[in-house]
Amino acid sequence: MTQPETPARACPEPAEAPAGAGAEPPGAPAGAPRELRNRYTAADLAVFTSDEASRFIPQGDGDPRGDMVLAWELLYRLEPGLYDRLASAERLHPGVVGWLPRHVDQIAEVGAGTGRLTMELIGRGRRIVAVEPAQPLRRILRRKLATADHGDRVQVIHGFFDQLPLPDDSADLVVACSAFTPSPGHGGEGGLAEMERVCRPGGCVAIIWPNHLDWLATRGYAYVSFPGPMSVEFASFREAVELAGIFYPRAAGEVRRRGSRRVPFEVIGINPPRDLAFRMLAG
Ligand SMILES: C[S@@+](CC[C@H](N)C(=O)[O-])C[C@H]1O[C@@H](n2cnc3c(N)ncnc32)[C@H](O)[C@@H]1O
Repeated sequence: MTQPETPARACPEPAEAPAGAGAEPPGAPAGAPRELRNRYTAADLAVFTSDEASRFIPQGDGDPRGDMVLAWELLYRLEPGLYDRLASAERLHPGVVGWLPRHVDQIAEVGAGTGRLTMELIGRGRRIVAVEPAQPLRRILRRKLATADHGDRVQVIHGFFDQLPLPDDSADLVVACSAFTPSPGHGGEGGLAEMERVCRPGGCVAIIWPNHLDWLATRGYAYVSFPGPMSVEFASFREAVELAGIFYPRAAGEVRRRGSRRVPFEVIGINPPRDLAFRMLAG
């Protein structure tokens, strides 16, 4: 995966922005958006449910200014619409989606977020279960599904990698996109075991946009990557400048200089979503 330092991004959401989020930090250029690393404080951790806190802050506290994994988790809950704008711009390589099995009966996706992958899965399975712990992201995903062709094939439910609320051997494809990491709070050994438990014999477990390839390889996961130039496709140049300032501050000057809504991933400085790790379970 994915984001530079973490996993694995308009509506009346509960609190679309915490106090001070988006405001200009002291010393920043005029009009600069507040970077993700400075966006939230320890006080914002109160947004976590007890189940979330036990996974994301097992010691009971943390500092989202020093811990980008925590900053991303707060983003999902405090500014889900902002995350959705970013994820919508970072589109998956079509080869990744094309590689996944099609015409299958059951698909389970874990860490579905606002549906970057989920929307692509609608055409590949008869029934799809999208598991997502963050309630504000589930709400956005449900809203998208309500207006999508065959969106009713997807059931959106709450759950975590390490405790999937799904039966054994129930899905032909169990997949996560930009969500799984070896850390226990975001998957780990327990999460991978859960994905494999839910996958039926002969089915496929796939980790899209993986990080820690060696970790997955030692657990029997093969790797495939799709070539070709890839860009982040922001909705407008204005949005490119704004979102780069928040999520890719080191690239923000170059994004501004290029003057385009389309920004190559090399400019942004992250690996593009062009790859996946997978394991076919013995039939
Ligand atoms: C970078 S987002 C990716 C979302 C979506 N799959 C996409 O590609 O846009 C990471 C997602 O993983 C979810 N997540 C974080 N920890 C999780 C856990 N322990 N179990 C399941 N999902 C988790 C987050 O809520 C978030 O939706």
